[in-house]
Amino acid sequence: MGSESTLVLVKPDGVNRGIIGDVISRLESAGLKISGLKLLQMDSELAGKHYQEHKEKPFFGSLIEFITSSPVVAIVISGPDAIQKTRTIMGSTNPLESAPGTIRGDLGLTVEKNIIHGSANSEDAEREISLYFKEDEIIEYSRSIDNWIE
Ligand code: RTP
Ligand code: MG
Repeated sequence: MGSESTLVLVKPDGVNRGIIGDVISRLESAGLKISGLKLLQMDSELAGKHYQEHKEKPFFGSLIEFITSSPVVAIVISGPDAIQKTRTIMGSTNPLESAPGTIRGDLGLTVEKNIIHGSANSEDAEREISLYFKEDEIIEYSRSIDNWIE
């Protein structure tokens, strides 16, 4: 159960609906730790790099328009099995199919307006974190509660 890091985005719908705090709270409550945090406006170049795997998909144009429509919150989330843990807390891509108790199941509206992004695997996590954060913007620190988590 090694500690790992993942990249989370609170997407424009989450920022505009005023639920940034709820999203962060759910991740923190699961024992996950914030190692980096910023509000930023994505441009189409960054969005294209982030979603490069979806370039040929029919929804790509709409996805880029949506993700650049308003600021997002980028977060480096760390902890034991942080990548899978975050994906579980997020719920599945389509909020209509996400389990209750997950962020998307409780708060998501459509497959596009699904509030949160979380890296799918360790390669994506490393690549995505480096798109948003410089090394000195990521802080490693211990919390006393970590003894109960790791
Ligand atoms: P994410 O990358 O955002 O964490 O979400 P995911 O892995 O659950 O979903 P993925 O298949 O990677 O799709 C990335 C994002 O594209 C939007 N999407 N729209 N209109 C559509 O059919 C469609 N399909 C996907 C969603 O915002 C999804 O989160
Ligand atoms: Mg994905």
